[in-house]
Amino acid sequence: MQRIQTAGQEHLLKFFEELPEDKQSAYLDELASQDWELLPALIREYVLQKPAIALPENLEPAPYFPLEPRNGSEADYYAQADVAGAEALSSGKVAAITVAGGQGSRLGFDGPKGTYPIAPVSGKTLFQYFAEALQSASRKYNTSLHWYIMTSVINDKATRDFFAGNDYFGLPADRVHFFTQGFMPAIGYDGKLLMADKGALALSPDGHGGTLLALRKSGMLDDMKARGVEYLSYFQVDNPLVPVVDKRFIGLHILEKSEMSAITLAKTNAHEKVGNFCVANGKLHVIEYSDLPEALALATDANGKLKFIAGSPAIHVISRAFVERLTSGGRLELDWHRADKKIKCIDSNGSAVEPDSPNGVKLESFIFDALKLAGKTMIFEADRKEEFAPTKNATGVDSVESCRLMMIERDCRRLERCGVTVPRKADGSADCAVEFSPKAVWDDEDARNYVARHNISCIEPGASLYWE
Ligand code: UD1
Repeated sequence: MQRIQTAGQEHLLKFFEELPEDKQSAYLDELASQDWELLPALIREYVLQKPAIALPENLEPAPYFPLEPRNGSEADYYAQADVAGAEALSSGKVAAITVAGGQGSRLGFDGPKGTYPIAPVSGKTLFQYFAEALQSASRKYNTSLHWYIMTSVINDKATRDFFAGNDYFGLPADRVHFFTQGFMPAIGYDGKLLMADKGALALSPDGHGGTLLALRKSGMLDDMKARGVEYLSYFQVDNPLVPVVDKRFIGLHILEKSEMSAITLAKTNAHEKVGNFCVANGKLHVIEYSDLPEALALATDANGKLKFIAGSPAIHVISRAFVERLTSGGRLELDWHRADKKIKCIDSNGSAVEPDSPNGVKLESFIFDALKLAGKTMIFEADRKEEFAPTKNATGVDSVESCRLMMIERDCRRLERCGVTVPRKADGSADCAVEFSPKAVWDDEDARNYVARHNISCIEPGASLYWE
């Protein structure tokens, strides 16, 4: 109580005596779990003033390993990386990690985003799609990959129930590990913490930067160590095309002795809504599209190509030892980012408020801010159409619709590389809907075997086909 008063937040106790006893103790627990020493400084810095976006000076584009090797020695290096990555995978040193703490609200979907039925023909959910890809990857590397899934208090139970109710989509249940990210209190523009009701703070997930500390606090870091996991293949829940594990990317991470690595894609335009890889003072930064100064966003090189072309699909390899180091002492100092939001709360009389314009601030940290804390980083380019189909919105760019079309096109290209004739419209897009189960076909080798086994030579125009 004393700490709450010192932090200038005594309004949080105004209704305390009105609460039934059990609610009182739950509320006290919630209050006790907040960092009262840190909050006043955060409020001063991020709420009472609009923090100027402190961009490092002299931002330059970050160098990266190109998708295709530039010369013979780079080709040799990539071949070595393939071997190192495959070895790490087959010896159980790699685990997958998915951040799934957000809801599907931008999709207009009420539930954990991973439970959204994304697949274009079968209607499989994002979680099932990843689970099946992990089964195939495990088969390929003769291992049984562990999968760590970060939830938030908002969706933890629904996520666990979804997996349990679906027999973990064929994965051994003891290979799927859930852990829950932390929360931050929402703060009104007057610097006072908002209350969801008389005995609860208005809380929101602390951003995917919270993954790192949550791994430690939940005991998952120890769990990984005990299992011999050294490298985390990190991806977001919204991208079904992600390869889940990539031997070349993992291998380059190992050979480069990187602590945290990133995939990059060529941006589609100067203002594409992705983070931008930049370097300043020898450190790697991801600058969000909304924070990149216009002059830099539009800058081009001598060939007219965007200077800041390297976009982030939020795919990483992170060394477990790096997470251990960053979170030792049980704290992690990542930057905070302010988001102005409409936050449901109660007012000083205890009446419910449902604002129709932003009434406060939510604070989040971002995992990519850990890149600048790494001793060594590495970026590897990927082919966007093969690896990146984010599902953010219901329609338009980065939507369910665009994602499904990209999934179909990816599987059509796979078929064509196996010599199958795919019907195409005048604009070049596929005139059919095809979908491979990732359990049956996870890469081109699987596709070749599948096509040969099932004698597939051409697809009828307008066909809708699902293969498993
Ligand atoms: C994100 C990245 C952006 C990148 C793009 C690629 C940020 C701020 N930006 O954008 O650089 O180019 O993806 O698609 O992240 N999540 C949690 N807990 C949280 C918040 C988010 O687990 O507290 C998870 C979500 O479930 C999702 C992922 O993090 O899997 C991304 O979150 P989202 O808010 O959708 O990020 P974007 O703004 O789309």
